[in-house]
Amino acid sequence: MSYENILYELSDDIGIITFNRPKALNALNGSLLNELSSVLDTIAADETIRVLILTGSGEKSFVAGADIKEIAECTPLSGRRLSKNGQDIFFKLEALSIPVIAAVNGFALGGGCEVALACDFIYASEKARFGLPEITLGLIPGYGGTQRLARIVGKNMAKELIFTGKMVSAAEALAIGLVNKVCEPDQLMNMVMETAKAIASKGRFSLEAAKRVVNSGVNVDLADGCKIETDAFALCMANIDAKEGTSAFIEKRPTKFEGKLV
Ligand code: CAA
Repeated sequence: MSYENILYELSDDIGIITFNRPKALNALNGSLLNELSSVLDTIAADETIRVLILTGSGEKSFVAGADIKEIAECTPLSGRRLSKNGQDIFFKLEALSIPVIAAVNGFALGGGCEVALACDFIYASEKARFGLPEITLGLIPGYGGTQRLARIVGKNMAKELIFTGKMVSAAEALAIGLVNKVCEPDQLMNMVMETAKAIASKGRFSLEAAKRVVNSGVNVDLADGCKIETDAFALCMANIDAKEGTSAFIEKRPTKFEGKLV
C-alpha cells in the first residue's frame, strides 16, 4: 500500500512512521488513520523490525488532534464509530510486540496526545506542547485519552488537563511524568535514535515479554501482576537469548542477541 498521509521508512532495524499532513498540522483524518492501521499490520508481520518511532512532519506539530472538520459532521452514531475506530487502531499500536517511542516535535493535542500516550514512552522537543483540548470543542477525548492519561500521570492531574483543556509545555510534561526526556528541537531524533538503537540491541523475546508484563500488570493488582511476571520470566528460559545473555556475562564477552522469537 502506498501512503499519502504518513511516511514510513526503515533505518536498519528501526521503523519510523511520520504523520504527514503538515498543512493541517498532521491532524488525524479518516484516511490517515486507515494508513496508520495498515502500516501497523505491516510492521506487526515483519520480525526484522526491532523498535518503532512515531513523529510528525514539519517544524510545528506532532499531531494537532483528530480532524475537527470531520468531527464537526458527526452524528452520535458516526461519532461512536469514529471514536471506536481510533481506539481500535491505538490498541493495535499499543499491542505491537516491539517497543514504540513517540518523538514529539511540536503540538501533541487531542488525538495527537492520545496516540503518543499509546506508545511505550515519549521523548519531546522543547517546542512540544501537550494537551487534551476537546472540552473547548464541547467534547471529551475519544481516542483513549481519558483512560491512558489518568493511568500515566494520575487521576487528578488528568482531570485538571481534561477539564481545562489547557496545553502544557514539554518541561511541565516532564515534571508530571508524561514524557521521559526533553531536548533541543534539532537533537530530538538523535536522542530518540540513540535510545532506539540501545533497545534494538537487546533480546527480542525478552523485550516483548517485558512490554507485555508491564502493560498487563498495570491493569491488575500487585499479586496478579507478579504472577504474570513469573510466567513470562519462566518462558524467557526457553529462548536462546537467555542462554546467550547469561553465557556472555559468565564468559566476560559482549552479548550477541539473534533477535529470534524461538
Ligand atoms: N483538525 C483539522 N485541522 C486542523 C487541526 C485539527 N485538529 N488543527 C489544526 N488544523 C489546521 C487549521 O485549521 C489550519 O488550517 P487552514 O490553514 O486551512 O486554516 C492549519 O491546521 C494551521 O492551524 P492554525 O492556523 O490554527 O495554527 P496556529 O499556529 O494558529 O494554532 C493550534 C495551532 C493551537 C494547534 C491550533 O491549530 C489548534 O488549536 N488546533 C486544534 C487542536 C485541537 O482542538 N485538537 C483536538 C481535536 S479533537 C480530538 O482530537 C478528538 C478526539 O480525541 C477523538
